Amino acid sequence: MTTVIKGGTIVTADLTYKADVKIDAGKIIEIGPNLAGDTVLDASGCYVMPGGIDPHVHLEMPFMGTYSADDFDSGTRAAIAGGTTMVVDFCLPEPGQSLLDALKRWDNKASRAHCDYSFHMAITWWGEQVFDEMKAVVRNHGINSFKHFMAYKGSLMVNDEEMFASFSRCSELGALPLVHAENGDIVAALQQKLMDEGLDGPEAHAYSRPAEVEGEATNRAIIIADMAKVPLYVVHTSCEQAHEAIRRARQAGMRVYGEPLIQHLTLDESEYSNKDWDHSARRVMSPPFRDKRHQDSLWAGLSAGSLQVVATDHCAFTTAQKRTGIGDFRKIPNGTGGLEDRLPMLWTHGVATGRITMNEFVAVTSTNIAKILNIYPQKGAILVGADADLVVFDPQASKVISANGQQSALDYNIFEGQPVSGLPRYTLSRGKIVYADGKIRSNEGDGQFVSRAPFPATAKALSTWKELTAPAKVERSGIPASGV
Ligand code: URP
Ligand code: ZN
Ligand code: ZN
Ligand code: ZN
Repeated sequence: MTTVIKGGTIVTADLTYKADVKIDAGKIIEIGPNLAGDTVLDASGCYVMPGGIDPHVHLEMPFMGTYSADDFDSGTRAAIAGGTTMVVDFCLPEPGQSLLDALKRWDNKASRAHCDYSFHMAITWWGEQVFDEMKAVVRNHGINSFKHFMAYKGSLMVNDEEMFASFSRCSELGALPLVHAENGDIVAALQQKLMDEGLDGPEAHAYSRPAEVEGEATNRAIIIADMAKVPLYVVHTSCEQAHEAIRRARQAGMRVYGEPLIQHLTLDESEYSNKDWDHSARRVMSPPFRDKRHQDSLWAGLSAGSLQVVATDHCAFTTAQKRTGIGDFRKIPNGTGGLEDRLPMLWTHGVATGRITMNEFVAVTSTNIAKILNIYPQKGAILVGADADLVVFDPQASKVISANGQQSALDYNIFEGQPVSGLPRYTLSRGKIVYADGKIRSNEGDGQFVSRAPFPATAKALSTWKELTAPAKVERSGIPASGV
C-alpha cells in the first residue's frame, strides 16, 4: 500500500519546489510530478516539510521530588499534533546507578511513544563504572550524546573535573557532550540570599539565575570541550552572554552548537512579575525567561547560523505540582511545556515576521539537529530512501493556543491566548498518518527507538589535529652543564 502527498510545495533546509511525495513501507520512494498511490493526501496550499525533531524533552522525568506530568504517551501525542515526529529524551541515572540499568527504565517508559524517539545519556556522577559503561552506551545502545548539568547543585550537577573526564571520554568514543550551562554554585548562593531577604516567590527564581551565570558556564564548558578536543552542544541557550560565547568559539574554529527554546524566543521576564502566583510559577524553568533584548540576540543567531536548533525542553508540571513551591521558590519544579506549540509558534513569530525564512525554519526545527545527532538523512530530509517522517503544514490555518483540547496532560498552557497561523494538516510518522483533521490516529507504542552511531569523521579530525599539535619534547644536543 503506497501513500502519495499531492499538490504541495516541498520545503527543505535548502530547497523549495512543487512536487508530490510517494511513500511505501515507511520510506520516501519517489519525489516528482503527477505521482499516483493507494492513499492520496491533499497538500494543496500546504508546505510539505521534514517532520520536526525535538532534541530536548523530559517525559515522565523524575525531578525535584516528583515526575514531569507528560509521559511518553501524552508527550508524543502533543509532539505529533504539533508536527514533530521525533523526540530525544534524557536518560538520568541516579547517583551511583549503572548507566545501563537506568537505560532499562527509560526503554520501558518510552515503549509507549506515539512517534520515534532516542535518548541522550546524562552523566550525573563520575567513576570507573561510568567511564566503562559509556563505551557500551555508545557501541551497544545507539546513544552518541552525553548530557552534563552544571546546575542543580546537590542533585544532577557535576563539577569541572568530572566534566573534563567525561568530555575526554566522549572524545575517545566519538560522542557529543551536551551541557546545561549555569553556574550551579552561584545559583545556590543567590537562592539562599534571596530567601534570607524574604523573596520567596517565583520572581526570585529569575533573580537567582542571571544571564551572567549562564554566560560564564557556557564559556567554561566551551573551554573544557576545547581542552578535551571534542565538539559541544549547549542546550537551552537563553541569553546574549551565552550566545556570545558560542559565537566566539565558532569563529575560533570550534564545533559548538547552541539551542534556543521556543519559550525563550517568545516569552520574557515580565511573566515573573504577574500578580497571580500560579501564572508566574507555571513559567518557572531554568534558565528563566529573560529581558526582551536577549530575544533579539537569539533570533539573530538563528538567521546568522551561530545558533542552530530550536527545541522545547518540554518538562511539564501541573499547577498542583508547581504549588509545592509556595513559600519557597526553590521547590517549584523547574520546567515548562511546548511540544505541541513549537512549530506554529516559530512559524508565527519567525517566518511570518520575516525573522527567518521557511528553509531556515526547516533547518532549525529538523535538519540541523538530524545532522548534529548523526541521523541525517534517515531523519530531517525529504529524499528518496529517507524515513517518511513528514508534516503537511498549512500556512493559512490558524488558531488561538489554549489548554482546552491540547494533548498535554497539563491543566494550562504557557502560551494561552496567543494567536498562531501555520498548523499541521497531516503528520506522518514513517509513512503512517498519525495526525489528521485535528485528530490523533496513532497508537501507544507506534514509535521506535532511533539508534545513533558515533561520529567517526569529527572524532578522527579532532584526534588527528590533537596528535599533530600535542606537546612534544624538544631533543637537544649541547645542553650546558647546570649551575656553571
Ligand atoms: O527548567 C528546566 N529546564 N527543567 C528541565 C530540566 C532541565 O534543566 O533541562
Ligand atoms: Zn537544563
Ligand atoms: Zn532539559
Ligand atoms: Zn495513548
